[in-house]
Amino acid sequence: MQTILVTGGAGFIGSNFIRHILAIRPEWRVVNLDALTYAGNAANLADLEADRQKRYRFVHGDINDSERVGRLLAEEQPVGVVHFAAESHVDRSIHGPLAFVQTNVTGTARLLMACQQMWEEAGRPAAFRFLHVSTDEVYGSLGPTGHFTEETAYDPSSPYSASKAASDHLVRAWHRTYGFPAIVTNCSNNYGPYQFPEKLIPLMILNIIEEKELPVYGDGRNVRDWLYVIDHCEALATVLEKGCPGETYNIGGGAERANIDVVQQLCALLDECLGRSGASRSERLIRFVTDRPGHDRRYAIDAGKIGRELGWRPRFQFETALAETVAWYLAHRQWIDFVRSGEYLRWIDTHYGATGGTAKR
Ligand code: NAD
Ligand code: TYD
Repeated sequence: MQTILVTGGAGFIGSNFIRHILAIRPEWRVVNLDALTYAGNAANLADLEADRQKRYRFVHGDINDSERVGRLLAEEQPVGVVHFAAESHVDRSIHGPLAFVQTNVTGTARLLMACQQMWEEAGRPAAFRFLHVSTDEVYGSLGPTGHFTEETAYDPSSPYSASKAASDHLVRAWHRTYGFPAIVTNCSNNYGPYQFPEKLIPLMILNIIEEKELPVYGDGRNVRDWLYVIDHCEALATVLEKGCPGETYNIGGGAERANIDVVQQLCALLDECLGRSGASRSERLIRFVTDRPGHDRRYAIDAGKIGRELGWRPRFQFETALAETVAWYLAHRQWIDFVRSGEYLRWIDTHYGATGGTAKR
């Protein structure tokens, strides 16, 4: 049995990743270190704690708590670390940037120091890997053509993407300065089960179900390159096992869509499930609202390197996986009620206004 440490594993991508890795690697054990912010939900993985082989351990803790992290690393001696823990929502970073610096920048630096210490004390084991999960948003905004490659210069627009860019630089510096075996991945927008309903796709699904307004920023023509979370998890498992220390790999779904098209598709999918037609069709709920400040126009990933060098390609088609995502949200109303606690409702009120107001034109 070999142990890996996952940070932020109670969030959206981390919880999908832990399920995935425990399913495909029966000889692996996962320790999940998570501070359980508003975005973290230990219940996402609670069923795994009942596993009789004890292949999953949840630890409630903050990556900024160096003493706690140091003790955990010494106790568990993981062969790899997959670092998801972050503040992850662009709109929240506009309202409160410091939390993003604290977790994404300082937290990553502290985690790197603790991991490096463990790695040095263990005699610099050759197989150890530190995988830093980052975003394509560090590259800034594209015009109508072109793709982000691993060589694209960093040009972040939001406090979120600036803090992730800083964390990427720290991880690379740890490799160059200390020889620490770190790898960076930069992926495009994920969607799928367990995504907190503040991001575009789950927010729209829930608003459609509840017949609330659908706030589309600006003209709705901003483009994102959508990646199904299971494809992302498969890519991360591949990089962890086959990736080269010091390298960066871009991960994308090859599914560029304008926001308004995604929202219309969700309306159509849910209308079919909910039996809405004619005057009650959900498109009537779409509202074009004031644009997000610094809103990047287009993201698109060139995933050629990970395909050529490690053999990974996305398997899921956007339309099919989007329909599966809608079905998951319809079947998990209890999960939705649980995560939409007081904190979630406060955020929706602050950002959109109690009646959908503040962000509106
Ligand atoms: P998320 O917001 O759903 O989850 C983040 C998790 O980190 C939560 O469980 C939270 O409790 C935990 N966390 C936050 N601060 C912490 C701290 N100080 N110590 C320990 N745990 C802490 O995020 P996500 O969407 O799952 O994203 C995971 C990673 O992937 C992030 O680093 C994000 O930047 C990156 N990423 C996400 C996307 C996307 O589309 N969601 C795209 C590209 C990159
Ligand atoms: P989001 O899910 O916040 O991801 P990111 O900002 O990291 O790309 O947003 C995806 C796109 O959807 C982005 O262009 C902003 C837009 N958007 C809306 O139009 N309305 C909304 O209510 C939200 C949350 C996002």
